[in-house]
Amino acid sequence: MGFGGSVGKAVGEPLCGLPRLDRGRPQRAAPTGALDPTTGGRAEGRPYGMESRATAWYRSYGVEIQGGRREAVLRLPTPDPQDKDGAMKKKPEVMADLNAEACRIWDANAEWWDDKIGDGNALQIELIEPATERLLGIASGETVLDIGCGAGRFARRMAELGACVVAIDFSERFIARAKERTPPEMSIEYLVMDATNREKLLTLGANRFDAAVATMALMDMATIEPLMGALRELLKPGGRFVFSVIHPCFDSSHTCKFAEQVVADGRVTTRRGVMVRGYLTPTACRAEGIVGQPEPQHYFHRPLGMLLNAGFREGFAIDGLEEPAFRTGVEDAAAVWWRHPDIPPVLVVRMRLLK
Ligand SMILES: C[S@@+](CC[C@H](N)C(=O)[O-])C[C@H]1O[C@@H](n2cnc3c(N)ncnc32)[C@H](O)[C@@H]1O
Repeated sequence: MGFGGSVGKAVGEPLCGLPRLDRGRPQRAAPTGALDPTTGGRAEGRPYGMESRATAWYRSYGVEIQGGRREAVLRLPTPDPQDKDGAMKKKPEVMADLNAEACRIWDANAEWWDDKIGDGNALQIELIEPATERLLGIASGETVLDIGCGAGRFARRMAELGACVVAIDFSERFIARAKERTPPEMSIEYLVMDATNREKLLTLGANRFDAAVATMALMDMATIEPLMGALRELLKPGGRFVFSVIHPCFDSSHTCKFAEQVVADGRVTTRRGVMVRGYLTPTACRAEGIVGQPEPQHYFHRPLGMLLNAGFREGFAIDGLEEPAFRTGVEDAAAVWWRHPDIPPVLVVRMRLLK
């Protein structure tokens, strides 16, 4: 799941099994006086404890607790179509906690993550970036907003193409890395900013941007409705928003890759595919975007209808879409998806503002 799992699995190793929350990690003792999620009562130094209201929210939304461990999946509230701030408005304090926790985790992972894939991995170089560039079609002199820019790899690419870039991320450490990596002559303004905060986003300036981009960031956001609402104001009429996400149909906490040996025409053959156990219910889980990262991050699975309707409600329409997959014959031990050339691990969408 995530950024291609930069540590590939050897042939013959089981392909199933998404990392689950806290699996194999040492369990933390509950802080004194904290609620015990297994009983709803007070924890007394039990090996499993809760850290925040966000964790309590997990439980209230149906996180299973098995053998003292949390399972990864929780259901997310489906936003009311009339409610512009969506889930954030419904459960403001827990969503704020979840968001703060997501930010802390990204900060904790930032330097490790940048050391690992800051110069690009197969998923970025072969699939995500070419598709995003094609759909964006940057013209020199355009002003572009990069949302969830990480260490700024794609922001720099857009600047090379002649764009004036404003790049935001809620992780201070990622922004620090992005500044370190960016030559002073490049036209990029980096800002620490939370993309779930509509008011903050609006301070960037109405009708300022020709285009906006979010590469592999929306599925990391607890809520996307405030961002979609803000983009309606920030983009010029006809402005485009290009985003990539891990493909919600084929890569989520409800899917796993499998390999099976079958006999065909008397010969033993390996068939590979993806098993889908669920899709329609929006859920969140914690998992590793890159195997071995310091802390598992939050992932927010949204079925296509929920993801795209968030844009349609704000006046966007889709006028471009790519589902890139690795070409047959590409063997890359760092990208497990090369074994599935007919299944796209990412979805890249261009939305255009109809105003
Ligand atoms: C998977 S990384 C992608 C980074 C970069 N766009 C790239 O393609 O390399 C997701 C990024 O989104 C950022 N992010 C997640 N939620 C965010 C939020 N609410 N506001 C701003 N940035 C956020 C994270 O800090 C992280 O840098």
